[in-house]
Amino acid sequence: MLNCLGHLEYRGYDSCGIAVSNSSIQVYKDAVRVAELKKAIPPFEGSLGIGHTRWATHGKPSRTNAHPHVGCQNEITVVHNGIINNFLPLKQKLIEEGHAFSSETDSEVIPHLIEKYYAGDLEKAVERALADVKGSYAIIVMGYGENALIAARKDSPLIIALGDHENYLASDVPAILDYSSRVIYLEDGDIATVTADNVSFRNGGKSAKRTEHKVHWSVEEARKSGYEHYMLKEIHEQPNVIRDTIGNWLLDGEPLEDLKRMSEGGMETLLILACGTSYHAAMVGKYIVQELLGLPVRAELASEFNYYGRILPETLAIAITQSGETADVLLAIKKLKDVGCRVVAITNVIGSRVSRLADRTIITRAGPEISVAATKSFIAQLMVIYWLMMHYARVEPKRQAELVLQLRQMASRVAQVLDKESEIAGLATYFAKYDDIFFIGRGINYPVALEGALKLKEISYIHAEGFAAGELKHGPFALLGPNKPVIGIVTNDATHQAMLTNIREVKARGSPLATLVSEGDDSTDTLADFVITVPQVDPLFSPVVNTVVLQLLAYHIARVRGCPIDFPKNLAKSVTVE
Ligand code: F6R
Repeated sequence: MLNCLGHLEYRGYDSCGIAVSNSSIQVYKDAVRVAELKKAIPPFEGSLGIGHTRWATHGKPSRTNAHPHVGCQNEITVVHNGIINNFLPLKQKLIEEGHAFSSETDSEVIPHLIEKYYAGDLEKAVERALADVKGSYAIIVMGYGENALIAARKDSPLIIALGDHENYLASDVPAILDYSSRVIYLEDGDIATVTADNVSFRNGGKSAKRTEHKVHWSVEEARKSGYEHYMLKEIHEQPNVIRDTIGNWLLDGEPLEDLKRMSEGGMETLLILACGTSYHAAMVGKYIVQELLGLPVRAELASEFNYYGRILPETLAIAITQSGETADVLLAIKKLKDVGCRVVAITNVIGSRVSRLADRTIITRAGPEISVAATKSFIAQLMVIYWLMMHYARVEPKRQAELVLQLRQMASRVAQVLDKESEIAGLATYFAKYDDIFFIGRGINYPVALEGALKLKEISYIHAEGFAAGELKHGPFALLGPNKPVIGIVTNDATHQAMLTNIREVKARGSPLATLVSEGDDSTDTLADFVITVPQVDPLFSPVVNTVVLQLLAYHIARVRGCPIDFPKNLAKSVTVE
């Protein structure tokens, strides 16, 4: 089990644990990497067990928050991937009914719920418990004295690997490749009962049949789930990241008291700080705040702010950082805290230095991002910003309802963009021969132009620049011509006409031109050499679909050029120096 977990650390590595059933259920877990856990646990025996590597989303990395989680009687043991969105009311009710919890995780409600419904049949108890659960999950349940593991999935991957008088369950193929290449993929809603010799399935209360597949991957290939690079895998994970990040909390609860005060006319100003790709999320955030709350807001580069940033009285700061370790962001937070400002962090890493310094941390549920180029973490950051700002939006109820609906549909819209990958890859083949590529956008898609250029330059080494389209004529025009292709992001908002004018100007100067437009918008058909359509969404959400196109474009250009996509030269994933 520990060997298998070692191959799953790319999914999470802040803590891990295993549970084994023999004369009792023994649990060994801690906030350590798998290799360290391996050294720390005593020799023991057992032929049934479950294990987990964690990437914290609810509760910091710690021994008690690590999986497996057990019910009160230490008889039901569970590992869980995903997010239980309604864990708070479930937990409250279970506590009232006498259940004692030991962790801060959402996952711990699952063993308690199963325990509550257990009346001699573990599979039935799991089925009943899951009926109460809202959210995403892949779970494996082990009951004391049982000879079967019960597994279930919804919106989180889970596989069964078949062996000779032994069977395995795992969240991904790399875990089990040393032992088997015969795999069954669970489907949403499946509940599987797995013993050493038998596997059976139920779905929607009826028994179901699932097909066995042969896996031909090496361990290294499998770690990327068959994708050639982590970056591509992470791009494709984005629909799930969106689902997990927005979950069910859309307009529940009180996300940020400080914003409430501001939206009610407090004296504060809002400052959003970040670096690199996270700064582009901050810039998009600025447009979202202006549009939805109509409040004064600044988006600043943390590295500049540290030297020149003026802190206005009563500033509420939001620091955005995937790693939570970026030195410039840490310095900025210290500077703000020194003068008594409140700082809210949006980060992907619980327990990171930024999350420890900030007054409040909101976690993006992107999961570990291995590729140096940020992709899914950016989209997750945007999701958090949409959620926060939509909660306090001062817009007509009709528009509010439409925005909520569209946000809920965002995962499928991104999946639609991913379906266009081969078309985008075709375009990439054309663009890969150029040495300079320009991206232009306006309004909320100006930061998307910057992000498209950043993504391209860092992984393909092509010189790329993003411009606010209206600025071209103030200098960059001098560069345009047949060797300088331009990618124009056209949005169906107040900027549409002006953008068309800019695109005509580009074309008149002989630059090859590709445009990103909404489905049904044929306004660039006669102007552009290539037109990529994206699903129609409210302009406020257009950065999400447009960015995914530009991520794929950068990826495929870099691939054509044979670049080391996941680990570009001179770059590090966490920038811990000023
Ligand atoms: C670009 C990229 C970097 C990071 C930047 C900030 O793809 O990954 O520009 O966005 O170094 O990092 P975090 O978000 O960890 O603070």
